[in-house]
Amino acid sequence: MSAAKPVVRLALLGCGTVGSEVVRLLHEQADDLTARIGARLELVGVAVRRIGRARGDLPVAPGLFTSDALGLVKRDDVDVVIEVVGGIEPARGWLVEALRAGKSVVTANKALLAEDGASLHDAAAEGNADLYYEASVAGAIPLLRPLRESLHGDRVTKVTGIVNGTTNFILSSMDSSGAGFGEALDEATELGYAEADPTADVEGFDAAAKAAILASLAFHTRVTAADVFREGMTGVTAGDVASAKEMGCTIKLLCICERGPDSSGTESVSVRVYPAMIPRSHPLASVGDAFNAVFVEAEAAGQLMFYGPGAGGTPTASAVLGDIVAAARNRLSGTRAPSESNYAHLPIRPMGEAVTRYHISLDVADRQGVLATVAGVFAHHEVSIATVRQSGRDQDAKLVIVTHGAPDANLAATVESLSKLDIVRSIASVLRVEGGV
Ligand code: NDP
Ligand code: HSE
Repeated sequence: MSAAKPVVRLALLGCGTVGSEVVRLLHEQADDLTARIGARLELVGVAVRRIGRARGDLPVAPGLFTSDALGLVKRDDVDVVIEVVGGIEPARGWLVEALRAGKSVVTANKALLAEDGASLHDAAAEGNADLYYEASVAGAIPLLRPLRESLHGDRVTKVTGIVNGTTNFILSSMDSSGAGFGEALDEATELGYAEADPTADVEGFDAAAKAAILASLAFHTRVTAADVFREGMTGVTAGDVASAKEMGCTIKLLCICERGPDSSGTESVSVRVYPAMIPRSHPLASVGDAFNAVFVEAEAAGQLMFYGPGAGGTPTASAVLGDIVAAARNRLSGTRAPSESNYAHLPIRPMGEAVTRYHISLDVADRQGVLATVAGVFAHHEVSIATVRQSGRDQDAKLVIVTHGAPDANLAATVESLSKLDIVRSIASVLRVEGGV
């Protein structure tokens, strides 16, 4: 008779969109997981907020539910704590407790990692414990492990991505079907993509958190959400979408993380999130619905693209399960995941020094000298114009100007000066441009 398999005991904190899918996959794939790990995974408790809530036909014995998450974390028989609740507290307290006690942690909580990843990494080091968080960025896409392991022999220079499924769903709907913002947001919420409070998605906080996590891994530097320049997409209008279309472009909420010298020549890191126009020929332009895609540029590897489902219960649970398997294997073999790498300590470059390009649409008086005056403002701020288009006449005259790259502060000052000109009736839209427009 063969010896009984060892058991790795799991505590699940949260059983909502993601957590319920984690439970389902653990149940459905139990035999395969046992064979792959060489140990049986046993769910010993599930912490939720409302024990009495109906949870359909979830394969969990009712007795496993508890509202005492901390009590569950502290149990001696728990090996791996899986946190899919979200938010800063009480999640931080639970995870720090678990890690310090040497328990492995798997979390999808990007808000916490971006706000105070340091506390978690420090606790993991203290407890010699594993901290895995693949699901926190770009849902099902294997992205953090490649950055944390596969690319550790290379020097990553830039990471550009669509990392928020909800806003990509909304912008794609606005672009393809002309759907309104509210209608598209409601659909994204129904599909389980949006956060409990969709402000985090549409105002770019979610993407900024993910940008901080990506930049930290890519540049071996602790980057927090507070270091990320952020603009959401609520200001993107149907007019902007139409204007982008006229230029052969589409609008995407991008996260951009890059390293390079600042104005004084010091190597530094710029991390930013904003809606930007990109040409339709750009690979990111065809990323629709709630899909995510991330470009990684590295000195030796060149350009890599990661693409896939970026949100939703089942895809996210896939990433969580991958981390559970890794943590369980480590426990069996007595090894650990690579610990945090933050040796580079690169400074954060202010947004004003980031080199960007603007697309500016102006309603102007159609009379002699207008173009020269407008061009003079750009020259005054040392911003070079790439293209100018004029349409309409008299009251309807419109100028659309796309700049070459310039420090963002110069571009912002140009817009400010333009707004003060008598001949400029209004600034219809200002959007940054990425890619070769
Ligand atoms: P949900 O809101 O669907 O689920 C949250 C779960 O946490 C619920 O089961 C809730 O209990 C439980 N909970 C809330 N507060 C407490 C508490 N104080 N004690 C114990 N349990 C509590 O969230 P999601 O599943 O959508 O997201 C979970 C995490 O995964 C978040 O960090 C999110 O950012 C991240 N994530 C989500 C993705 C997605 O597509 N949804 C994708 C990638 C990451 P109850 O059921 O009783 O309400
Ligand atoms: N609300 C997030 C999104 C979930 O829409 O991308 C995935 O992190």
